[in-house]
Amino acid sequence: VGKLTFQNELNIPPLLEPTVGSDGTKQFTLTMQTGTTEFFEGKKTPTWGINGSYLGPTIRVSRGDKVAFDVVNHLPETSTLHWHGMRLPAAMDGGPHQMIEAGSTWNPSWTIEQPAATTWYHPHLHGKTALHVYRGLAGLFLIEDQDSKKLPSNYGVDDIPIIIQDKMFNGDGSFNESMDLTPFGMLGNQILVNGTYDPYLRITSSQVRFRLLNGSNARAYHIGFSDNRSFYLVGNDAGLLPEPIKMKRILLSPGERAEIVIEFKEGEETILHSFAGKDGIENGEFDLVKLIADQRLTAATPLPQTLTSEPPIEVPADAKVRTFVLTTESAINGKKMDMNRIDEVVPARSREIWEITNKGWDHNFHIHDATFTILDKNGELPPKYERGRKDTVFIPSGTKVRLAVDFGSYPDPTTPYMYHCHLLYHEDSGMMGQFVIVEPGT
Ligand code: C2O
Ligand code: CU
Repeated sequence: VGKLTFQNELNIPPLLEPTVGSDGTKQFTLTMQTGTTEFFEGKKTPTWGINGSYLGPTIRVSRGDKVAFDVVNHLPETSTLHWHGMRLPAAMDGGPHQMIEAGSTWNPSWTIEQPAATTWYHPHLHGKTALHVYRGLAGLFLIEDQDSKKLPSNYGVDDIPIIIQDKMFNGDGSFNESMDLTPFGMLGNQILVNGTYDPYLRITSSQVRFRLLNGSNARAYHIGFSDNRSFYLVGNDAGLLPEPIKMKRILLSPGERAEIVIEFKEGEETILHSFAGKDGIENGEFDLVKLIADQRLTAATPLPQTLTSEPPIEVPADAKVRTFVLTTESAINGKKMDMNRIDEVVPARSREIWEITNKGWDHNFHIHDATFTILDKNGELPPKYERGRKDTVFIPSGTKVRLAVDFGSYPDPTTPYMYHCHLLYHEDSGMMGQFVIVEPGT
């Protein structure tokens, strides 16, 4: 692995413009397609993308918007498109049951009801999720509201997407597509940020928001800066924190997001870096992107001290507790994913405690159509970067977490949502379960 020289300007996925219907619905078209991408000069990598050859455009909407999609499948095979972190009816979720055959179009629509958050979209075809995401199908889906607009919001200028993915390349430039290289799946030795290899980014503002997404199949990143500077964590998976938290490192496992605000002085340079952690999915050390501040920077207003007034998730004293055990055999409670089996039945709008114990390799856990707060990890308060509202949680080997979960409001007794490990090889190998939301009392 050669040392990076920061040759390539960081790609910023374009914002996707909707057409607006007479009732105000924002209509978007996403086309999943094959292509080739030149990550290294002179080498063409066969890739998949959405409206392009690698990754997809950024969708940005506001709380309260009605949205509708044409999801067109121009791939040579069936896929799906899932809205990770979105609160929406199960039939619109884009999970393994909402298959889109090659050549056909899927038309989900819903109303954005949740607070501002950095969510994302990616395929979810059972058994093929790892490969489809790895080939390049993923993009950001930003939800804005009154609170989020008080933070740096000029997309591509002071509001920057940072999609982190590890890859392994063959000599001819093609991706090594062995999804089972390690017990965790693919752990690559090269990093792409927004689909750019060896990237740099020019900074033009004294205050910049990064929307970090770990879009990797299995790798976790301890994110900080090469000069060890502090930054402010302002949001995580499911929305803004009550107030900014000053820190130097955050840990992101696959599927997790964080919003951070960094302050820059004119002319300075630093590198967004991932520091090596313990053995397992945290073990690599990588430079991610070099940041080069201009000689003159646009001045910024101070960060608001209160970021959101969204209340924390509280569970009633008599809340239902469900327990889950993760094992090395990529199973949950001893069971492998079965698309014909409903594992849990959850009343609409309920708040429950989900207790998850990891007796196997490193795993994480994601719940569709739900938002949660981590109550504790091995009986202790979680680290500060894991406070607030989330939808995915890292559960290292030997850890037990308790989550206060707020469930969705769209009963549908026949269409399941998923919960699963977001290490995609584990998910594909069966570490996934299905739940339905039902009318309370049924
Ligand atoms: Cu990001 Cu069920 O997945
Ligand atoms: Cu796992």
